[in-house]
Amino acid sequence: IKNIGVFTSGGDAPGMNAAIRAVVRAAMYYGIEVTGIRRGYDGMGKGEFVPMNRKSVSNIIQRGGTILKTARCDNFRTPEGRKNAYEQLVKHKVDALVAIGGDGTFTGAKVFGNEFDIPVVGLPGTIDNDLVGTDFTIGYDTAINTVVDAVDKIRDTAESHDRLFIVEVMGRDSGLIALRTGIATGAEAILIPESKTGLEGLFNRLEFGRKDKTSRIVIVAEGDDTAGGAFEVGRLVQEKFPNYDTRISILGHIQRGGAPSCMDRVLASRVGAAAVEALRDGHRNEMIGLINGEVAYTPFEHAIKHHQGIDPNMIKLVEMLSM
Ligand code: F6P
Repeated sequence: IKNIGVFTSGGDAPGMNAAIRAVVRAAMYYGIEVTGIRRGYDGMGKGEFVPMNRKSVSNIIQRGGTILKTARCDNFRTPEGRKNAYEQLVKHKVDALVAIGGDGTFTGAKVFGNEFDIPVVGLPGTIDNDLVGTDFTIGYDTAINTVVDAVDKIRDTAESHDRLFIVEVMGRDSGLIALRTGIATGAEAILIPESKTGLEGLFNRLEFGRKDKTSRIVIVAEGDDTAGGAFEVGRLVQEKFPNYDTRISILGHIQRGGAPSCMDRVLASRVGAAAVEALRDGHRNEMIGLINGEVAYTPFEHAIKHHQGIDPNMIKLVEMLSM
């Protein structure tokens, strides 16, 4: 392998820059050139290629977002779009790829790696933590700390006004952000797609919880379909408990930004360097993650088919500790 192309794709996640840096610096360590591909698959098809060196990744380990930019690309779903992208890689003498992103990114990488003779490995970069093959994805730790920080602030005002807050967090169809942050903020209840708490379950928790509570927080995962989003949950809670002064807060894209946490920087650095070593060792069509502190190789096929599940003990914990 002489020239590795690296790109970020799908939703950005804090720590993607640390991953790009690790790929570039590890490749240089082994005497391999690196080409940065801007705007994910979209930029690949359009030939948005930039040669990278040690200096081009200076001073980025602490920065949120991605210096290579990112995009969600429909064109890459078509055979012509992928052929076009491959021609650009050949033209720029890129002979291996590191794709940084989530399951959408790896779905594209899997098809591409099977269609054309180019080794592709992936790094798990998404705040959702919804991939198997790694204990944590790059960006998840930072995102949950952002959520905890925000919910702690909401708790201050909720407590001052004796209010109930419905807080919606991201995660697409996964409740992993909601579950962990629910535990960490002492939420009174959580609604996540993986558990069937339902409206009745939520009402019960609010009804039979301690009466002398002066503030209440309900964390709702964006993918939960109990009522169709936080506003609808809020409306129904207000209807059922007219005495609770209820407010809604949707945290939104602040969860995707900010300086990556130490955990995300270290994770990104480890898997970034491991990706380069994996390509040298002949790996292809695999995601490089960390399981129990060890580098783990998971076929794209498997990583995208199976979402990381929820530990039922964690759900029980919310119920047990928030009484
Ligand atoms: O996958 C990361 C994520 O932030 C999800 O949690 C969310 O559902 C989605 O991306 C939002 O995507 P966009 O920024 O394109 O609206």
